[in-house]
Amino acid sequence: MSINVAIDGPAGAGKSTIAKLVAKEMGFIYVDTGAMYRAIALYLLRKNISIDDNEAIEKYCGEAKVSIKYEDGVQVVLLNGENVNGLIRTQEVGNMASASSTNGKVRALLLDLQRNLAKENDVVMDGRDIGTNILPDAQCKIYLTASSRVRAERRYLELTEKGIECDLDTIEKEIIERDERDMNREIAPLKQASDAVYLDTSDMNIDEVKTKIMEIVKSSTK
Ligand code: DC
Repeated sequence: MSINVAIDGPAGAGKSTIAKLVAKEMGFIYVDTGAMYRAIALYLLRKNISIDDNEAIEKYCGEAKVSIKYEDGVQVVLLNGENVNGLIRTQEVGNMASASSTNGKVRALLLDLQRNLAKENDVVMDGRDIGTNILPDAQCKIYLTASSRVRAERRYLELTEKGIECDLDTIEKEIIERDERDMNREIAPLKQASDAVYLDTSDMNIDEVKTKIMEIVKSSTK
């Protein structure tokens, strides 16, 4: 049976950074489910569908065929066969992903892909509903969070390091809006699974988080 580590939490909590480190250390594959929702969001944006047009989202999302492959251990997301890794990390795509992922049809498109990956491989999978919905039997579940200010500061640093101009208060506002949508949607909302370990990283640095998470992962997968 494959070993599954599920890491859930709000936007900007550091899930992907940590999940990648854990996957490398454990020799597992890293599955970034947010990237899959982002690929569908990119398709919808390219169709000029607006974030609140749920009817159009429902109508067109099925045209977005998402698959993944690994190149040198890195997840590559394919949208109708096109590598979209370089196009899905914008704030605009993130906001559209948050909005369109409230739609049940969008979620259903990705369910089997995610479950099959975890069935066939040892995985560290991160997202919003992995421990609660996608992999309820995962051997290890972690709920990773931090205050909205700290998450905004981390994103701000990330963007300014890439030379992208941005405003901290605007980023925090968008993070709070995203939390609101992700946590309060009807289908598979973001919440801590009852058997997940809760970790607030607001006052921790990356090394401390990694050490703590590795302890949790090792003790629950041995
Ligand atoms: O983790 P991320 O920022 O790349 O995710 C983008 C959006 O996708 C997020 O705001 C909500 C949605 N998402 C989801 O609904 N379920 C997941 N398992 C992962 C992401």
